[in-house]
Amino acid sequence: MTSSATRVVAIDGPAGTGKSSVSKLLAEKVGASYLDTGAMYRAVTLAVLDAGVALDDPAGIAKVAQAADIKLIPNADGSSTVLLDGRDVSGPIRTEHVTSAVSAVSAVPEVRTKLVALQRENAEGRFVVVEGRDIGTVVFPSADVKIFLTATPEARAERRHKQNLDAGRESDYDAVLASVNRRDHLDSTRAVSPLRAAEDAVVVDTSDKTLMEVLDELSALVEARIGAAER
Ligand code: DC
Repeated sequence: MTSSATRVVAIDGPAGTGKSSVSKLLAEKVGASYLDTGAMYRAVTLAVLDAGVALDDPAGIAKVAQAADIKLIPNADGSSTVLLDGRDVSGPIRTEHVTSAVSAVSAVPEVRTKLVALQRENAEGRFVVVEGRDIGTVVFPSADVKIFLTATPEARAERRHKQNLDAGRESDYDAVLASVNRRDHLDSTRAVSPLRAAEDAVVVDTSDKTLMEVLDELSALVEARIGAAER
C-alpha cells in the first residue's frame, strides 16, 4: 500500500448518540485525523443567517454557500477550529440560533454538493474518522468501516439536556426532546441524502452504554478491518 491511500472510518447517526465525543476519541486512539462534517453545515448556516437570507429561500442559501470559504483546522486536543471566510466561528456555530436553522440549510442540494466535495478533498490520502449523517451512504460509499450510532430519543434528549446544564445553559428536558424529534424528522425525511444507515454499516445502540464502552467497541471494529500496517 502506498502512503497516499485514503482510509475512511464513517460514523453516522442522529444527534445525541455520543457521535462527536466518540469520533474524536476514536480518531485519537487509532491514530487517524478527525473530520466533523456537521461543523461544515453549521458554518454555512451561520453564513446564511449573517447574510440575512431567509430559510425558505433555497436559491439564496445556495448562493451564500457557493461564496463561503470554509476551513477546518485540527487542534492538538482533537477538536477543530472552524474558519468561515478566515474568521474563527467555532463558538458561534454551536449556538441554538444556528442549531435550529441547520436542518433547513443542509437540505439544499447545492449546499450538499459543495460540502461533499470539500469533505472528499479533506480526506484525500489520509486515514480519517469522518463524522456526519451521510458519510457511509453518500460521501464515502466505499469507506473501510461504516458505523451507524443510534439511541432512543429519550436517551439522546437526556444527554443534550445534561450537556446544556453542565455548560451553564438553561435547559428544559421536554423542549430538548421535542427538538431532538423535530431534527430527526427533518434529517431523515429530506429529499437529498436523508439520514439512514448504509446497508453494510454496523449499527451500535448507545442508549445503555458508556462512552468508553462505545469507544472500545468501535476501536475493535477498526482494528479488525484496517490492519495497523495500513493505517
Ligand atoms: O452533527 P451536528 O449536530 O453538528 O450536525 C448539524 C446538522 O448538520 C445536522 O442537523 C444535520 C446536518 N448534517 C448533514 O446534513 N450531513 C452531515 N454529513 C452532517 C451534518
